[in-house]
Amino acid sequence: MLRTVLLTGCMLATGAALAGAQELGDVRQGLAYARKVCAECHAVVPSQLASPNPDAPSFASVANTPGMTATALHVWLHTSHPTMPNLILEPDTVDDVVAYILSLRRKR
Ligand code: HEC
Repeated sequence: MLRTVLLTGCMLATGAALAGAQELGDVRQGLAYARKVCAECHAVVPSQLASPNPDAPSFASVANTPGMTATALHVWLHTSHPTMPNLILEPDTVDDVVAYILSLRRKR
């Protein structure tokens, strides 16, 4: 029961982040994709403290890197990931994942 309430709270928070973001992508789809594909190495949700792959930064820390922008993330995701050269994302998927990562930014 409590778990359901917490989960709903999280979804609402994500929805609020989506409403405030000036991004083209869909935050929820980005999260779903990240959980499926990126979570193998990266901590994709802020509650996850450490990445499965210690060399991969958590998405929360990527989002909160000073100067991190949607453009920088797009560039990164269109160039080859050193450890995963075969990861090719569709442009729409890139938008979604970028929107999701930037939704993890702490409010300043
Ligand atoms: C096979 C493991 C693996 C998977 C899967 C993976 N990554 Fe990575 N990623 C890494 C590693 C390791 C690094 C650090 C590489 C470096 O800094 O040179 C990294 C770095 C990054 C960075 C740069 C962070 C920074 O601050 O420079 C971004 C952004 C990123 N990954 C996004 C993603 C996204 C989005 C996905 C899913 C579509 C993904 N990664 C899937 C291993 C992975």
